[in-house]
Amino acid sequence: MTKPAPGYFLGGLAGVLLAGQAWAADLTGDWVFQAAPSFPGFTRMAIRRDADGLHGTITSQWYGDLPMLDLKTVGAGAGDGLVFHIDNGNPKLKPYDLTVAPDGQGVKLTGQVWYEKQEAPAHRATAAEMAALDFPTYPLPAPAHVPSNGLARTPPMGWSSWNKFAEAIDDTTVRQIADALVRSGLRDAGYVYVNIDDGWQGERGADGVLRPNAKFPDMKALADYIHARGLKLGIYSSPGPKTCAGYTGSYGHVEQDARTWAEWGVDYLKYDLCSGEGFYHTAETVQATYQQMGAALVATGRPIVYSLCEYGRFDVGAWGREVGGNLWRTTGDIEDSYASMAAIGFDRNGVPRHTGPGGWNDPDMLEVGNGGMGVEEYRTHISLWAMMAAPLLMGNDARSMTRETLALLGNAEVIAVDQDPLGHQGLPVRKRDGTEVWTRPLADGSVAVGLFNRTDKPVTMSADWPALGLGDHPRVRDLWAHRSVAPDTAPTVPAHGVVLLRATR
Ligand code: GLA
Repeated sequence: MTKPAPGYFLGGLAGVLLAGQAWAADLTGDWVFQAAPSFPGFTRMAIRRDADGLHGTITSQWYGDLPMLDLKTVGAGAGDGLVFHIDNGNPKLKPYDLTVAPDGQGVKLTGQVWYEKQEAPAHRATAAEMAALDFPTYPLPAPAHVPSNGLARTPPMGWSSWNKFAEAIDDTTVRQIADALVRSGLRDAGYVYVNIDDGWQGERGADGVLRPNAKFPDMKALADYIHARGLKLGIYSSPGPKTCAGYTGSYGHVEQDARTWAEWGVDYLKYDLCSGEGFYHTAETVQATYQQMGAALVATGRPIVYSLCEYGRFDVGAWGREVGGNLWRTTGDIEDSYASMAAIGFDRNGVPRHTGPGGWNDPDMLEVGNGGMGVEEYRTHISLWAMMAAPLLMGNDARSMTRETLALLGNAEVIAVDQDPLGHQGLPVRKRDGTEVWTRPLADGSVAVGLFNRTDKPVTMSADWPALGLGDHPRVRDLWAHRSVAPDTAPTVPAHGVVLLRATR
């Protein structure tokens, strides 16, 4: 049997307080984790007692140094020890109690952080062991205007790996997707960015340069392949030490990573806050960290579309252009369900005045073709995104599209609404009994009109042309039926469906 820590045999009500204090005294000091779950990757903790009581700091590979909040002793029996929680501004991390209890010669941390059960033994550490795990912090730039890169005069269009493939993405699949975009005609319809989302990263070399992982043997060759087909390559990183899926982020290597991507021939970066929220959780620091990468991209001299992904926090649309951004997410992640898509598309699409040539509200990537919605629901999805002037980033397996999916993604008349050079974001002008009429003014003086039915029964809908400023008898075209229709048309709009019109006075 390993030697129990002093105080182990103290018990009984009378001993509670005393035992608690005895334990706490024993557990103060420096500890290094021998092994810990990769999220949030605890490496060390330092526990101290002073006149005010117990204090501690626990270090995480994702979030750096975190105070051990409300650190206190618990109980008095076997397995007793200390309890605390962490809070880095992400509500998903806050609610969990973590316990430090004696374990043989050392201690064990148990509990849960978000989705990850923690069970992490630690041993007493020397000052040198602790110092080796110091988590560096880096200064942020003072506020400055990042000059526009002149890109994205209309909302970016292309494909991204995440919604369909998540981490199961590799060089071969990306090449096949590029070929499929060409073969299907979608490249010529405007879908030119081929974006690798999370999951391409390997480790940094001794020179600090970030290498791709084994699934991407040669990024420069991949970029050449993409470019040879008239397409552009996108990549993904985070200002934090870890990306959302736990890969290496750009923390401490911002300028170096920007240069690496430019050398590979990258044309687009999605920069996802992820573990960066452990370091940057105020409006000023989040803006500064995005500004830092924005300036680094400009400094490479290569035109690189800059996509900000911080889930719409801190009114990002108000400063996205300022930091060099071309698009900025307005929400959390979309899911392949009507409920998720509709919640974002109808109700959380960002501040309309922030959108326009060079900078776009981004309600997240498309799910069209992924199977979780019916055809009329997907028609609503792409119609809403077109009405909003949203970036159109396909999220499906473009190698095996049905005709139906191809028709939804490749409708030139709908794409023309999305890509209209005026760049106005459409808005609902009438909401009634689960139906919504949306309008979007277009550069040629015509107006795109969406008749959306959010109910689960077909509904007859009509536009009130005079009320929309289009007179009594506008010329009207149905953009999904590809034909002219009478102005007094009152179509039956399918459940969860849409009729999308373009009207000219
Ligand atoms: C976040 C983003 C997603 C995707 C994943 C990748 O959740 O919002 O769009 O990039 O990270 O891990």
